[in-house]
Amino acid sequence: MKPKWLSPWLAMVLALWSYPAISDEIRSSSKIGILVATGSDQDAIDYYKRIGPLLALKNAKTDLPDLTALLRYFGYTTLTGEKLEALPSSDLMKAFPNDQVLSARFFAPKIVDFNFPSSNPKYPYQAGWRKLVRLEALSGSKAAQAGLGAVYVLFNYVQKDPAVDPFPDASFKTESFNTQVIIPRAKFKKGAEDAAFFLDFNPRSKGYTANDFLSAAFDTAPNPGNTHQNYYVPIACAQCHGHDQEAGAPESKSGTFPFITINYLDTDQWYDMAGFGDFPSSPNAKFDVLYDGSSNHASSPYKAAFDVIRKLNKSIQQQNTDSARADGSSLFRIKAVDKWLTIHQSNDNPIAPIDRALDLGNGSAVWKNTKDEVHLLEVLDHYCFRCHSSVLYNVFDKQAVLDERASMIVRVQRPSTNVQHMPQGRVLDSTTITDLVTYLKNLK
Ligand code: HEC
Ligand code: HEC
Repeated sequence: MKPKWLSPWLAMVLALWSYPAISDEIRSSSKIGILVATGSDQDAIDYYKRIGPLLALKNAKTDLPDLTALLRYFGYTTLTGEKLEALPSSDLMKAFPNDQVLSARFFAPKIVDFNFPSSNPKYPYQAGWRKLVRLEALSGSKAAQAGLGAVYVLFNYVQKDPAVDPFPDASFKTESFNTQVIIPRAKFKKGAEDAAFFLDFNPRSKGYTANDFLSAAFDTAPNPGNTHQNYYVPIACAQCHGHDQEAGAPESKSGTFPFITINYLDTDQWYDMAGFGDFPSSPNAKFDVLYDGSSNHASSPYKAAFDVIRKLNKSIQQQNTDSARADGSSLFRIKAVDKWLTIHQSNDNPIAPIDRALDLGNGSAVWKNTKDEVHLLEVLDHYCFRCHSSVLYNVFDKQAVLDERASMIVRVQRPSTNVQHMPQGRVLDSTTITDLVTYLKNLK
């Protein structure tokens, strides 16, 4: 199924990608519909009001006015926004043992701004980093009373110099530019009630206050006078978190978000991205893709860090199963997290792309270990996985690539402005385009 109108994310990336050449012709083209649908402040205001009672609150924004209030709501009376952000993962987990708190810091190619390579060959792109903390609702907390099991808090950073620590300590030389939250629901009526809730918080320098929108570093526009656009909760979030078929909108009958998914953490793909050449200094970087481990993958800190991801993905697998669509079209997400958990049951090392091929069953095609297929899969992994792992299909599912092939070829070449260019958020050189098109055409 295809989205009926342009998503906020797409609109955002397209606007960036082609700015300032983006023409009124594109904006008004009936073929691509409404261009800018980023949600609105009113959407966010209405949303926070609507979900308030579902959280046993009046209003999700005014009753959870900052990150510390959110932690109190989940029963964490000794934690603050600052501590949550600055404490090392191991300290957080030691303070709240038995998986009450799981914390992971990692390289995040998803938030790299590929629009604006610098002229410095050493640092062509600024690396993205994230810290994800999952906190269980402590018993007796207001959240537990409202029937909520856990909260996921995600901090975001960019750092161009691989020798500089991307994460803050208590001195806060750097800070998360935006902090995103998902609260999955332990119980909800499948297909009819919200599967999870989104919240968003400002950086520490703005008091970690609740916010209506994501002000992302990846939306830095090429025009200095026009560097920010707001992408509002919940529409902009839902697009990449399960409501792709609705282009971020709620399910039309219920007006709710029953298909919200927490995205699984693909450590293997992060290692791929560190090795593809976009980050030439990464092989010698001071900090490993799994920051909390170490570059010694046989060490006990690395094993511990990897095990945290394993536990997080296990919870995410369950959440994805709970929020799956009845028509089976969510299968590509569930199979992807299943695959990660299977190959990493006892193996902590990164796995090559071809060994991560998905098999969706029912006789669907699976990537083969031939020179050509290995090459094509790597190119798709490099340029398309960023979105086509959570949006509409997963490039590791060969059947999906065969089904989308004709459209892929057209979109990569973009013969006219009426066709959405792919990949969004990045301009490929002509050699890469020709290579991709040739291998797509030859795929059997
Ligand atoms: C462009 C797609 C995209 C958009 C837009 C987006 N996310 Fe995400 N989000 C992801 C991906 C992919 C991950 C997995 C982590 C990674 O790969 O870096 C993620 C991770 C998260 C996590 C950690 C739990 C998880 O799902 O793994 C939270 C919390 C989160 N996002 C909240 C939000 C909120 C709130 C918004 C809207 C304000 C939002 N996201 C918008 C793609 C997106
Ligand atoms: C930054 C996010 C992003 C990246 C990277 C990206 N896409 Fe997309 N893609 C989207 C979104 C959002 C849609 C849905 C909107 C639309 O149909 O235009 C989409 C839709 C598509 C579709 C149509 C799918 C359907 O069934 O409607 C194809 C084909 C496609 N992309 C190919 C590619 C290829 C090939 C690459 C890599 C070279 C790529 N995309 C990279 C975001 C992305």
